[in-house]
Amino acid sequence: MQTLQNVLTHGRTLPNALADSVAALQDSRDRALCQELCYGVLRWHSRLEALVLNLLEQRPRNRDRDLTLLLELGLYQLLYTQIPPHAAVSATVDTARALGKSWAAGWINAVLRRFQRERASRLQAVDLDCATRHAMPPWLLGWLGTDWPADWPSLVQASNARAPLTVRVNRRRCDRDAWLAQLGAVSLTGTHLTELPQAVILSRALPVTELPGFADGEVSVQDAAAQFAAMLLALQPKQRVLDACAAPGGKTAHILEHTEVALTALDIDARRLARVAENLARLGLQANLLVGDATDPASWWDGLAFDRILVDAPCSGTGVIRRHPDIKWLRRPADLPALTVTQQRLLNQLWPLLSSGGRLIYATCSVLRAENDAVIESFLQRHEDALVRAPDIPLGRALQFGHQILPGERDMDGFYYACLEKD
Ligand SMILES: C[S@@+](CC[C@H](N)C(=O)[O-])C[C@H]1O[C@@H](n2cnc3c(N)ncnc32)[C@H](O)[C@@H]1O
Repeated sequence: MQTLQNVLTHGRTLPNALADSVAALQDSRDRALCQELCYGVLRWHSRLEALVLNLLEQRPRNRDRDLTLLLELGLYQLLYTQIPPHAAVSATVDTARALGKSWAAGWINAVLRRFQRERASRLQAVDLDCATRHAMPPWLLGWLGTDWPADWPSLVQASNARAPLTVRVNRRRCDRDAWLAQLGAVSLTGTHLTELPQAVILSRALPVTELPGFADGEVSVQDAAAQFAAMLLALQPKQRVLDACAAPGGKTAHILEHTEVALTALDIDARRLARVAENLARLGLQANLLVGDATDPASWWDGLAFDRILVDAPCSGTGVIRRHPDIKWLRRPADLPALTVTQQRLLNQLWPLLSSGGRLIYATCSVLRAENDAVIESFLQRHEDALVRAPDIPLGRALQFGHQILPGERDMDGFYYACLEKD
């Protein structure tokens, strides 16, 4: 409950809010359940909220808003989990008591029982509204519909599905098939993707520390769509490479596993950059780590040009909602203009650092044209020495300038890539 309130009322991100709650739980099964319920309620929040309001005869008083959320938690279990209904109802009632609201126990019980009796008609009523049916903020659904007139239904469906655990096998430490052969010992199976030599989609999620060889750097968690970045850079040994928005270091590590290059990993956020250091240490890799603002190279650049630059720009995250359902409720329409200004500035300011004949990869985990092709279009209008190349990605769809993978395609996250070369 506290976790959900911290996200929905206080604007904290789900991983951040969840870390506190999960740390307080001793049993790993309780931790898994807490995680499942929090992710699930946030995945379906606006649909569950509409159901609660439909079931209540009157809106609860402001000071009882926690009970509305508690009802969402109960309804989530009844609608979307295998938890036996009687257990879901009694756990929800018990939580009301634990919140010091014993007076509400009978009321919570009655509302949930009413839902069980009238489930079909209640769902039909709230699902008349398209945004509610898909548990999407109306503004976001509108944008997705505009940018993806034919694909938005499958895009939204994939965004509301659970994401698989996908890993990247470290080719410096371990052969992919040898790693796959170890999975039976932990009752897992894995499917490797033909388009990406190191990517494996696992049959179920488990704590990363239980992955075979994790502590020894044989494997890292990374969605398959994100693994195209290192490929698209077309790296050659000893090249000078800048990873300009590096933290927490998924792509930094992949670049270094892929080819021995002289890599500078830059991020504006010192705490997030510390995670790059941790990841590289586990994998036995080295980079020059810098805290700095990529839009202000004068403050950190040594003046030597880079052969390759990766700009994995901060973005709306609309391609990774299936992994971060809190994005739906934390993002605001007004965030987009500020993000696109930053994205433009990153490209404009980093372009002079690229050597002639060098390559820059621009990436986002967004599905919105404003953050993707529109950013590249505007960049190209102002840089005559920039050539746009079609990214060599054997799935997804080619756009006018870049390439889009939509969430769910081959069970991947949504990702956008554009490839720019300097004349
Ligand atoms: C999408 S994340 C990068 C993910 C990372 N490339 C990976 O694969 O793990 C965007 C990162 O950009 C950083 N960032 C945002 N604005 C920046 C700026 N002006 N200069 C450098 N880093 C910035 C954020 O702190 C964040 O870590």
